[in-house]
Amino acid sequence: KPAPPTTLVIFGAFGDLTRRLLMPALINMTRLGLVGDDFHVLGVGIDEGNDQTLRDALGSFDAKGGEGAGEKGEAWARLKDRVGYLQGDFTKDDVYEALKTRVTGNVAFYFAVPAKFFGDIVDKLAEHGLMAETPHAFRRIAIEKPFGHDLASARDLNARILDKVSEAQVYRIDHFLGKETVQNIMTARFANMMIERVWNSDCIAHVQITAAETVDVGTRGKFYDATGALRDMVPNHLFQLLAMVAMEPPANFDAEAIRNEKGKVLKAVRAYSPAQAERNGVRGSYTAGKVQGHEVPDYTATADVAPDSHTETYVALKLMVDTWRWAGVPFYLRTGKAMTCRDTEIVITFKPVPFASFPGAAADMLPPNRLIIQIQPDEGLSMDINIKRPGLEVATAPIALDFRYADAFDIGHLTGYESLIYDLFAGDQTLFQRADAIEAGWAAVQPFLDLWATDQSIPEQYQAGTLGPAAADALLAHDGHAWHELAPAGQTVP
Ligand code: BG6
Repeated sequence: KPAPPTTLVIFGAFGDLTRRLLMPALINMTRLGLVGDDFHVLGVGIDEGNDQTLRDALGSFDAKGGEGAGEKGEAWARLKDRVGYLQGDFTKDDVYEALKTRVTGNVAFYFAVPAKFFGDIVDKLAEHGLMAETPHAFRRIAIEKPFGHDLASARDLNARILDKVSEAQVYRIDHFLGKETVQNIMTARFANMMIERVWNSDCIAHVQITAAETVDVGTRGKFYDATGALRDMVPNHLFQLLAMVAMEPPANFDAEAIRNEKGKVLKAVRAYSPAQAERNGVRGSYTAGKVQGHEVPDYTATADVAPDSHTETYVALKLMVDTWRWAGVPFYLRTGKAMTCRDTEIVITFKPVPFASFPGAAADMLPPNRLIIQIQPDEGLSMDINIKRPGLEVATAPIALDFRYADAFDIGHLTGYESLIYDLFAGDQTLFQRADAIEAGWAAVQPFLDLWATDQSIPEQYQAGTLGPAAADALLAHDGHAWHELAPAGQTVP
């Protein structure tokens, strides 16, 4: 059913995010009937232009080739006339006065602009009366990451925003929550007795959360060198995955019930001392190499990256979640650029059986059961179990029960933003981050940020196209574990 009639005001109309993600999502939403003919887009930006200029700029990218090109072309043809442009400087008042004459009714303001403008835009929207809601008209803001660059700045930004608008009006986006497989984590856990009953420290030995990327820093040097892998991926994306894995079952599927549980578990991630942070964190930075046949230069030779940069492009952490359920179960997280293959996955490794009755096999020599939630690519779920090897001898063999979404469903070609934008219009905050969860995420990584800001040691180098620095392997080896091999279907580890 189509979302309520809404005007989506996009600050940063000509930006990369609008072009690459927002517009393709809006076109898909038009195509799928998730927005009706009463849906409007108003771009705001500094660039010279009028409605037609923006339509031309946006129309030139997506509607062309690719999957469903014809349908997308038709959807764009329908949407195009409802796209408008307001030229102006969003740090100045006159744009907001002009906005007041251009929008009425339900309005969602989308901040597709650099983070340093977030606070100013909220202030101005509120000062000009644009955030005032009525029973018939909502006013909401959608904010992309980065939400702050450390705990203090995230707290300041939350305080500044919540001084002007209510939490119910704020939709903090983490695009990982738009991914089907991420949403499936809760279903896998809470719709299956046989999974949830063993989901605790009695049965689980450790959890690994990986987001390996093949992309290098490329043209994003300026942003990335000031950010690094930890800030870019961990307190947001990887912690969303961690929260879904570790949260307690919500009493219902209301946004607040779910956000309460996620907030609680993120607050339970152990706050490390500097010495603990040093033991439990590894940084890496890539050197020149080949990633899937493509030459990648040294990270420090990337445009807009300082030649003596100590920014990490890889990070691995061992975290503890101090709750009854997870006492003593390490959560290992890793993410990096320019790695062997693209693979985002969660691997739950179970404890050995308490006793092995089989001749010749000690319990801890049987391969442990594993549940692998494959987030992307090749979305799926698989389980490693042991079976009897056929034959007269009693011998076991490990096998994988393997489910791939693509084999069972048409998962379409959506960007992941469709469900987020739909929920933004429909007023469902389940898939958006509440202020407390954002701050809990930053609080958990702050000891690493502090350590690495003062630490004289530099990230360990790893060659582009490999699995990351050796110290990340040592982090697990120290506990008697090893990283799950990265080899999603269709790709091989050399
Ligand atoms: C973004 C980061 O938030 O997420 C990028 O800024 C990263 O550096 C991207 O590449 C990963 O998202 P996805 O959906 O491609 O896994």
